[in-house]
Amino acid sequence: MTLGCTPEQMAAGAGPDQLASVFGRQLSLASRSVHADDYTNTHSAVAPPMHVSTTFRYSDNPDKLQPWSEIDPDAADELYIYSREKSPNTTRYEALLSSILGGPALSYASGLAAFHAMIVFLNPRRVAIGGGYHGCHGVLKLLNKLNGLEQLELEDEGDLAKLRKGDIIHVETPLNPTGEARDLAYYRRKADELGCYLTVDATFAPPPLQDPFRFGVDVVMHSGTKYFGGHSDMLSGVLAIHPDRAAAGWLAGLRGERLLLGSVAGNLEGWLGVRSLRTLELRVMRQSENAQRLVDWLASQQRAGSSGSGSANVVADLVYKIQHSSLQPEASDPGSWLCKQMPNGHGPVFSLLLQSAEHAKRLPSKLLLFHHATSLGGVESLVEWRAMSDADVDRRLIRVSVGVEGWEDLRDDLLQGLQALHGELRQ
Ligand SMILES: Cc1ncc(COP(=O)(O)O)c(C=O)c1O
Repeated sequence: MTLGCTPEQMAAGAGPDQLASVFGRQLSLASRSVHADDYTNTHSAVAPPMHVSTTFRYSDNPDKLQPWSEIDPDAADELYIYSREKSPNTTRYEALLSSILGGPALSYASGLAAFHAMIVFLNPRRVAIGGGYHGCHGVLKLLNKLNGLEQLELEDEGDLAKLRKGDIIHVETPLNPTGEARDLAYYRRKADELGCYLTVDATFAPPPLQDPFRFGVDVVMHSGTKYFGGHSDMLSGVLAIHPDRAAAGWLAGLRGERLLLGSVAGNLEGWLGVRSLRTLELRVMRQSENAQRLVDWLASQQRAGSSGSGSANVVADLVYKIQHSSLQPEASDPGSWLCKQMPNGHGPVFSLLLQSAEHAKRLPSKLLLFHHATSLGGVESLVEWRAMSDADVDRRLIRVSVGVEGWEDLRDDLLQGLQALHGELRQ
């Protein structure tokens, strides 16, 4: 008996349940992250090999040669032909992702490549989309140029009423760059009323923080560049498909279209992705806890304000607003949609609105541990003066992506940076 399965086997009913039949229960996320690809082992080496080949030998036995048009994709797990279709390292990566995300998963060259493939496959006339990562809006604009695809505003009820059967409600949660969450159960009800698909960009809350399939989402998308990669060294995108949709042909359809779009993940990225997913739970839980401690500390300093200690003074003087899902009103009600949606903690990204754009521009260079760089999800903490990479964002905004360092060190770094900025402003 081998553990784990391909996305196709999962779509056909195997998957975490197959493991459950051996252990009498589903294995934990941590164990699945280490073992869901064990079935692909062909060598005694414990660490997975890296295959760089783009092409694969056909069988030497002519009786085993099957023309492409006669291959049953569900029975072709072992058949490798050309790496634009699939390759051993991305197969491993996808086996882990399928088990971790709870639905058959495909990998792509980047998060935007995954988003593009999803929209091409579902081929809506309209997409309702809210704030969030500007690149996804850019992809929709490109498609508008090709086929007139219309972008509607997710949070405008009038716009939602324009949606028709086969259109998409696309929800990013938590949102980039604020880290605030949106209610998936609400949008599932809307999608059902309107006959639309519900797709989610869950990049900011990977497992174990959030499981969008619990809310009936049709396709879960991730920029795997962030927490799945986790070390700021690989670009990747992921689509996980609701098991019912996958079994109804969506997995085969997306796989077939990916072969033509050519936006597969590379061999190195597949290998790095496996290396990284082994520690997903450890990293994400630590990052989430670190972020929560920093948000709690900043919020308490802000509340204490000028009547508090010297540090409270500095935070209150410079930080106008802190944004994070843990600060949304619903976060303090255990029965709320937010607590149901994020039962294991909040995301590791939050944002700070400083008093002015000039403050936001100057703070990053005062920090010693936080790197000033875009992106998020890696083990190293980052801040970004978001105006550096987003043309439409409030110029006072600093996005904070919390890494795995000791949280007290991160707190002290933020404090010394804010103090240095405060001192500079008073000169
Ligand atoms: C929420 C979100 N979705 C999608 C993307 C795009 O991912 P990628 O950069 O891997 O294409 C990003 C990138 O920052 C993101 O933050």
